[in-house]
Amino acid sequence: MVYLNGNFIAKNKASISVMDRGFLFGDGVYEVIPVYQGKIFRLTEHLDRLQNSLDSIQITNPYSHDEWQSILTKLSGLSSALDQSLYLQITRGADTQRKHNFDTLTPTVYIETSPLIAKTKSQLENGFSAMTREDIRWHRCDIKATSLLANILYAQEAKQHQVEEMILSRNHQITEGATSNVFMLKDNTLFTHPTGPNILSGITRDLVINSAKACKLNVQETPFSLDDIQQADGLWISSSTREIMPITLLDDQPINQGVIHPAWSCVFDYYQQLKND
Ligand code: PDD
Repeated sequence: MVYLNGNFIAKNKASISVMDRGFLFGDGVYEVIPVYQGKIFRLTEHLDRLQNSLDSIQITNPYSHDEWQSILTKLSGLSSALDQSLYLQITRGADTQRKHNFDTLTPTVYIETSPLIAKTKSQLENGFSAMTREDIRWHRCDIKATSLLANILYAQEAKQHQVEEMILSRNHQITEGATSNVFMLKDNTLFTHPTGPNILSGITRDLVINSAKACKLNVQETPFSLDDIQQADGLWISSSTREIMPITLLDDQPINQGVIHPAWSCVFDYYQQLKND
């Protein structure tokens, strides 16, 4: 079952107009929200970010917080999976003609849920590979926009090279991953790019920062470079679907000689506790 514009219907019965601006222009925003043990995780934070995305592209939020909560709760309850990933997207809606500028339309709201199968700690402890690329995206990466051409090209390249993620740099500074935020550990300090127009302000990113502080790490939201990573004690990526993954090989070079620093384990454990709150 999926949710489309007020109705809970079978996915193969869900359809939208070819004039929908989401289809024609990628004119919309989205969220990915985890559900753990049947409970929506950090809903308020995700809805706040959604509001920011909607405001940035001048779409009026079609629902209140309580309405979102009841729709999402109902949809997730229709799935038998205890852990899920809710995908919701809002497009500007369907117009009568294709034109770049827009009038006020009725937004299209689509939500689906899929089982979320998180990797176990021992799977994560094998470490993951990543590659680096120049960040060619626009300067409004803070908007969680459905127009993701650059990100999907990076993701495809990662797939072709059989690596977990493409880590992006702008002016020699690491911004984020193609689909994740990035952290570097060095001498008991965890560095991550500050929020702003060049990264998506990840909900998991905030939780990693809090977990790191609980693990007695210093946290600095300041940019770091590719050169810095060569001396790093650890490199991690985070997202709602991947949680916190240690990268042990970057551009075929081992990070910290391929050894995952114990701080990752502490932060990972703390994050798991947050899921049960
Ligand atoms: N993406 N940066 C980018 C570019 C992302 O696409 C994502 C997540 C993140 C992490 O955000 P969060 O912690 O709130 O999931 C950072 C989602 C999972 C996606 O596009 O499917």
